[in-house]
Amino acid sequence: MAEGGIGVAITNSLALRGLTIAPPLALAPMVGLSHSALRTLVVEEGGAGLLFTEMLAARKLPQESDQTSPYLIRGKEERPLFYQLFLTEKEDIAPAVDRLHQLHAQGIDLNLGCPAPQLRRHGAGVFLTGDPQRVRILIQTLRAATNLPVSAKIRLGECLDEGRLLAFCRMLEGEGVDLLTVHGRLDKEKFCRRPRWDWIGMVKGAVTIPVLANGGIFSVEDARQCLQVSGADGLMLGRGAACRPWLCAEIARRVYGQQIAPTGRTAQEVFNRFATLLEERFPLERRLGRLKQFSHYFAQNFQFGHILATSVQNSLTMDEAKRQAEEFFLHSTV
Ligand SMILES: Cc1cc2nc3c(=O)[nH]c(=O)nc-3n(C[C@H](O)[C@H](O)[C@H](O)COP(=O)(O)O)c2cc1C
Repeated sequence: MAEGGIGVAITNSLALRGLTIAPPLALAPMVGLSHSALRTLVVEEGGAGLLFTEMLAARKLPQESDQTSPYLIRGKEERPLFYQLFLTEKEDIAPAVDRLHQLHAQGIDLNLGCPAPQLRRHGAGVFLTGDPQRVRILIQTLRAATNLPVSAKIRLGECLDEGRLLAFCRMLEGEGVDLLTVHGRLDKEKFCRRPRWDWIGMVKGAVTIPVLANGGIFSVEDARQCLQVSGADGLMLGRGAACRPWLCAEIARRVYGQQIAPTGRTAQEVFNRFATLLEERFPLERRLGRLKQFSHYFAQNFQFGHILATSVQNSLTMDEAKRQAEEFFLHSTV
């Protein structure tokens, strides 16, 4: 425990079934963003104690190649890495878990919080939570299939209902979930609504497993406030880390008191490193879309960032996108 300048004790590390997570700062699962290139960049900048993949369809996982699938490509430095699954059928669990064991996953996360339309079609993600009995069976099956840490990521529910939320979280704990991430928004709430960090605090008070608070952390000050309000055991950063891949390092230094040497990279060098990682690791046709998605967030660092985002967005090739970015950086102000 340390104080982190926030007036309350903070947890410096978590132990999950023999796995140490230090500091308890995680890169969130994000479709199209939390792939090998961003994960590596965040690791290189420092400060992330835990990484997540974007959500993966449990049913398709056994057929995916770790050499060519953009979902499974992974560098040695990306650890500890939890693979996030979305699923609805318990029959899909054992084959998916076998594959994750082969891939040397450090943990397995169940997506119970994502409201994306493709999950609605399957009744997965947040759409599963209306049927707690089904979730219970899925968690039991997952727990029985692995000794790896199992985590779950949830939202606050369909409406503000403390009793229902806490009963659901206690059920997850009771069935063997080792770590819970709570995105502090209701199921249908958009990102423009402020996350309810106080509600994450209610979950924290109701379970004994560690809780990561998620939602709306874009700065060191946000991290401090979120820890203070929620009393959570750690934080999960999504868009903030895509925007500023060095944010975990800043929080680790200034809130957790860690000695992390700065990489000394300029923003342009961070952008170029991301592009290089895409080129080194991903098949040709899998690079440009990912650079565009990253640029949308990264552009927010600059006064006229929309020019960067638009020019990358309009590029037809990686080389054109890189040229456009170089041109932008010549004249940019952070
Ligand atoms: C582009 C994008 C993709 C996302 N994909 C996933 C996902 O695959 N699984 C998941 O559980 N949440 C997903 N999320 C939600 C994030 O993990 C996180 O809960 C949300 O962005 C709030 O955190 P933030 O304010 O730090 O971004 C996604 C969010 C974004 C912006």
